[in-house]
Amino acid sequence: MYHKKLDDFPKDFLWGAASAAYQIEGGYDADGKGASVWDNFTKIPGKTFEGTNGDVAVDHYNRYKEDVKLMADMGLKAYRFSVSWSRILPEGTGEINEAGLLFYENLIDELNKNHIEPVLTLYHWDIPQALQDKYNGWESRQVIEDFDTYARVLFERFKDKVKYWVSFNEQNVFTAMGYRWEAHPPSIPDVKKMFEANHIINLANAKAINSFHEIVPDGMIGPSFGYGPMYAFDCDPENVLAELNGEEFQNHWWLDVYIHGKYPKVTFKHLDRLGIAPTIEEGDLALLQSAKPDFLGVNYYHGGTVRANEIERPMEKEEADLEKSFEATDPYLMKPKDEQAQSPETMMFTNVNNPYLEKTAWGWEIDPVGIRIALRRLQNRYDIPMMITENGLGAYDELTDDKRVEDDYRIEYLKTHVEEIQKAITDGVDLIGYCAWSFTDLLSWLNGYKKRYGFVYIDRDEYSEKNLERIPKKSYYWYKKVIETNGREL
Ligand code: NOJ
Repeated sequence: MYHKKLDDFPKDFLWGAASAAYQIEGGYDADGKGASVWDNFTKIPGKTFEGTNGDVAVDHYNRYKEDVKLMADMGLKAYRFSVSWSRILPEGTGEINEAGLLFYENLIDELNKNHIEPVLTLYHWDIPQALQDKYNGWESRQVIEDFDTYARVLFERFKDKVKYWVSFNEQNVFTAMGYRWEAHPPSIPDVKKMFEANHIINLANAKAINSFHEIVPDGMIGPSFGYGPMYAFDCDPENVLAELNGEEFQNHWWLDVYIHGKYPKVTFKHLDRLGIAPTIEEGDLALLQSAKPDFLGVNYYHGGTVRANEIERPMEKEEADLEKSFEATDPYLMKPKDEQAQSPETMMFTNVNNPYLEKTAWGWEIDPVGIRIALRRLQNRYDIPMMITENGLGAYDELTDDKRVEDDYRIEYLKTHVEEIQKAITDGVDLIGYCAWSFTDLLSWLNGYKKRYGFVYIDRDEYSEKNLERIPKKSYYWYKKVIETNGREL
């Protein structure tokens, strides 16, 4: 029970929805676009769910006007989307593709015309294939310069049209998926490379933020981090220590660098002992410290529950059973036992099931209170304005014969999360907006077109694009009301 009277949502709160280029655009080689690593990765047999790819996706590239019209009818205040680097610079660097810039300019103009605040993400996982081929993408320091050049092209072009910018989307996720779990390109299982690439991305992030402040002094930029609060399984002090380890290893490892320009000491020492800490060159820390984000984007889906590792504290029988039941069905959560034994976090914590939480059809915990905990912890530690840049429910939706989608489960999910957000605001959290994931249904990186997140149903599946008709779901009308009443009616 919450006893305080809740504060209203701020008057200009950005009620939004989000997407990413590869997941919606299609037009994979239209108008001079170069290939990204995802264009090629999805063509390797066995790499994606039933061979799905984003060649057509939901054809937003050709239907963006129709999509913006649906956003405007809904009353959306903000729309977060990403730019595909290889649409702008087909080779990653060098020649600029004006047609690519024009596509985003038209989209941005359409949004502004409809009073929808554009929130532009510079990087949502689709590095140009040319740079991967040239110097292994994020593994080379050359990418710092090239990313900055790309970012500057966008800053210059859109400085008067876009106020909110996201630098990197879920760096923690795409590097782990690419360098550890082999589920994303470049699909190289090598933790040393993962930590090196992360450091290089931190430097690229810092350099681009500094360029932004020079070119767009009135704008706001920040990274979007995939944040999951860590919980101790119980109050056994060893498990509380494991929570501390988990929070530092999974979260502060990135966030401390973004906000304070330094790595947390304990984890750095731990990785150093294992021989996998990143190489810090002269000048690196100065660059990291010079770049302060204006806000922090938070992508929230679920947290994680941990206990002490087996080496330091053998498990009781019922705990061992509980751990065995931690059967992940989604590669995002997958940590096979034998890999876990060699993994850097083994010394620090072990993931276990949280007996209090239900899960989605893909095994993701449903934890609305977690979003309040997340915001509170982040506010306390970093004291920076925040925007929820993603939050939503992946589900199997069904289209009825008379073309309706009754997604009450999604409404319930979003409603309970928004309620907790309002409590967090009442607590004193400085939150400027909430972008639900996602506006339309879109390609799920690992689960094709079956896992749907949108407010708007898209008539397509793995096997056929059908007619790609847009059909607002019940949740679309629910969110419209939420926006209209500025969160008073949930
Ligand atoms: C986070 C990612 O940013 C997004 O691209 C993805 O589709 C969602 N999580 C859901 O898995």
